[in-house]
Amino acid sequence: MKQLQPRISGELKAPGDKSITHRALVFAALTSGRSTISGLSPAQDCRSTIACLQALGLTVEPDKGLPGVAKGEPGKIAVASPGLAGLRQSSRPLYAGNSGTTIRLLSGLAAGLPFVTSFDGDESLRGRPMSRVLDPLCRMGACVQYQSREGYAPYAVSGGKLAGIDYTAPVASAQVQTALLIAGLQAQGRTTVTVPGTPRDHTERMFRHIGVPFQANGAGSITVQQLTAPIAPFHIDVPADISSAAFFMVAAALLPGSGIVLPAVGVNPGRRLIVDVLRAMGASVTLEHERTVSGEPVADIAVTFAGRLKGTTVGGDIISAGIDELPILSLAGALCDGLFSVRGAAELRVKESDRLKAIVLNLRAAGAGVTEYEDGFDIQGQAHLPGGSAWTTFGDHRLAMTAIIAGLVCDTPLSIDDTACVAISYPSFESDLKSLLK
Ligand code: S3P
Repeated sequence: MKQLQPRISGELKAPGDKSITHRALVFAALTSGRSTISGLSPAQDCRSTIACLQALGLTVEPDKGLPGVAKGEPGKIAVASPGLAGLRQSSRPLYAGNSGTTIRLLSGLAAGLPFVTSFDGDESLRGRPMSRVLDPLCRMGACVQYQSREGYAPYAVSGGKLAGIDYTAPVASAQVQTALLIAGLQAQGRTTVTVPGTPRDHTERMFRHIGVPFQANGAGSITVQQLTAPIAPFHIDVPADISSAAFFMVAAALLPGSGIVLPAVGVNPGRRLIVDVLRAMGASVTLEHERTVSGEPVADIAVTFAGRLKGTTVGGDIISAGIDELPILSLAGALCDGLFSVRGAAELRVKESDRLKAIVLNLRAAGAGVTEYEDGFDIQGQAHLPGGSAWTTFGDHRLAMTAIIAGLVCDTPLSIDDTACVAISYPSFESDLKSLLK
């Protein structure tokens, strides 16, 4: 029997941005003193970064110093660093869990530290390519020993004397750029890192906000030099995560009668493809009260159901600005009027799972007409998605949240193999969704 479709309405503050939280935590190591972060992400991935930094000698505590903040209030913490020169060797390998940002950014940090730092992660992270960061770090003078498979975790980084490089990354990766810039801040001479595409520029914005000296060369190219002294402790207000908000944006665009407001969402130019794609599909998406918070563009995002979505083509240089949102956008594609086509997204194969394979497998099982390509997919949209199928998440948080929204828009509910993994980025996803369901 066909299920009754709910609508979603109301206001919801999505959790703090995961990418910005990772950076705020890691850049605190560049200071000597106590920095504060409010609105930080509750993601398990960010907990992994915190635990690794603690193992290197940073102290992280619920903040008592922020005005009006009670001890232990969620989302507000203080991070105290002894300065780069005061960091200590961890007695255990740094465990990054599921988090690519944690392991890659901290490898850049470890490359400049005069001791050995070992890294490991979960099964998914052990299968993700690390040479994109470790090869250039070796060129700078770090020494990497792989403990199981060349190019993959677990591995050990012997840091020390680094020399700057001029490096153009073959992939549009903000993680690669950030890791190499962190190493560059510890290297003799100049380090220039250039990335193609439109990746998120959180690092550049945060460097400017917290006073890390750098030179922006335009077109994704940044130059840094060795820090001669620790930077001053800072405060960062983290905006809501557009990658988490994306699930509600698509749900509101698909469920008739819906209308939601998502306050204070980060709308970094390297993250807002979801807004452009939904608009191109005919959705009503408005950005209200646009402002700048801790150097990042922020807006209240309103999405109102505006009829059936149209097909569109997503590809080219712009793809990196929505790489994490393609799983949930594919669901919008499955229900559009026309063809939804994605190309240039081969990076999806090396995320927390092979997301191209996972999208195609699950949407097909739910009754969608999907063609898989090496770097994307075509979906022939239809008015109804039958559902009633089993959805395999591969332990990937974004696939699990896509499944939960798919379960609302399909004719028949889905069975999902694992929803616990949503905690990797959004622990309260299901209760937040429930608060919007009408
Ligand atoms: C991130 C960059 C992206 C993104 C990831 C977070 C970051 O990865 O997919 O979820 O915080 O820099 P890549 O830089 O590898 O594209």
